[in-house]
Amino acid sequence: MKDAEHHHHHVRDTFGSSFGVLVALAGSAVGLGNLWRFPYLVGENGGAAFILIYIAFVCLLGIPVMLSEFIIGRRSQSNARGAFRRLAPGSHWGVAGILAVVCCILILSFYSVVGGWGVEYLLRALRFDFTSGGSSDLSSFFTTFTASTWKPLVCHTAFMLASALIVVFGVKNGIEKFSKVMMPVLFVIMIGLAVRSLTLPDAGAGITYLFRPDWSKVTSDTVLAALGQAFFSLSLGSGMVITYGSYVSKKANILSLSAQTALADTLFALIAGCAIMPAVFAFGISPGEGPGLVFITLPHIFSNLPFGGAIAILFFLALLLAALTSSISLLEVIVTFCIEEFKLKRKTAVALTAFVLWVLGCLCSLSLGVLGDWRIFGKTVFDLFDYVSANVLMLIGGLLVVLFVGWKMDRKAIHDELSNSGSLHVPEWFIGLLTFLVRYLAPAAILAIMVFQWIS
Ligand code: TRP
Repeated sequence: MKDAEHHHHHVRDTFGSSFGVLVALAGSAVGLGNLWRFPYLVGENGGAAFILIYIAFVCLLGIPVMLSEFIIGRRSQSNARGAFRRLAPGSHWGVAGILAVVCCILILSFYSVVGGWGVEYLLRALRFDFTSGGSSDLSSFFTTFTASTWKPLVCHTAFMLASALIVVFGVKNGIEKFSKVMMPVLFVIMIGLAVRSLTLPDAGAGITYLFRPDWSKVTSDTVLAALGQAFFSLSLGSGMVITYGSYVSKKANILSLSAQTALADTLFALIAGCAIMPAVFAFGISPGEGPGLVFITLPHIFSNLPFGGAIAILFFLALLLAALTSSISLLEVIVTFCIEEFKLKRKTAVALTAFVLWVLGCLCSLSLGVLGDWRIFGKTVFDLFDYVSANVLMLIGGLLVVLFVGWKMDRKAIHDELSNSGSLHVPEWFIGLLTFLVRYLAPAAILAIMVFQWIS
């Protein structure tokens, strides 16, 4: 064994514990999707009804897709492309893995730019800049800042360097260690913020909005937005769970890990909702503010809240931590791919990947300002990367994953992964339900969503 390891180019890293896997997976899932995207989508789509549809999609489609990625990753012990090639040698399925890697490249490019905005806002909070100035100042600050040339680039560079610095230490000593410390910190901060918000004098209106559904507001757009958000928030269809799953021990229970990750991500989105909506209503701001909700509306609220300065620091610290635990997972998908498919050392792979992504991120950032006139299919680079990843590649990726596990993969291999080769008892009815979801319901629903999105 020792000898065999010496002859190999590298020995494969693994996660150290089940808790480590859980915080790493939850860390990937919990991110800007929960703190920035979820609240404004809830606001734009009428509140509680959107949340209920979202939760239904997480259970019926999210968990089956996540479990399918887990099965592919842990079975193959390989990167997103290598996984498909090992399980289906001589086929073209490797292309599904390449699409996943491309998807992560596109997401991380703009994700790092938004993460950079988080850096700038945290620095501003630390200087207590939000305790003065009206809301019009704050919205013009946001637009001026994101459209300017140098500052966002510097922040994006800092964010990308921080992500690379964690990933260079590997899965167990980098990603797992960072997530183990930061996820509990993040959780405590968010609970604290939610408690503060829920104890505001007029919190009631926000709570009603979050938890009492108004079905008259539901349209087909609401349904589409809810599915897209479920995929984005759970980091599905982009090879993340395949890659992390490939580092998970054969003794871990992938069924409960998938359920716990989905639960943690959903809880987190709800807590973020409880932290944001009551404050939005208490200050008489419209919840349908759009993507500026976190960066424009919240600073306005902080400036009117007792101890608002300290709360602003905590909020943007939470945002930055959540973004980092997600960006390292995006980076790891690409880095694992480069290490195994191009036989690179981890250090080389991280340096190369981070550099290429830094350049692409710079293009995204500049496309909100000086490069704004450069349009591809009528979109700026930022919007194009966002649109193609979330509305095209993640959905195709999810579709391919369930088709692969549902129709191509060996039944016995799937059962072995679910039951850890027979040592866990998995009830028959459960296998039956899962088979139905993975073979029929998930592919049909994802396909329907894609077709709808493209024709409308
Ligand atoms: N889930 C992350 C968030 O909510 C973002 C994300 C989308 C992601 N796709 C991903 C993270 C793929 C890792 C891998 O912010």
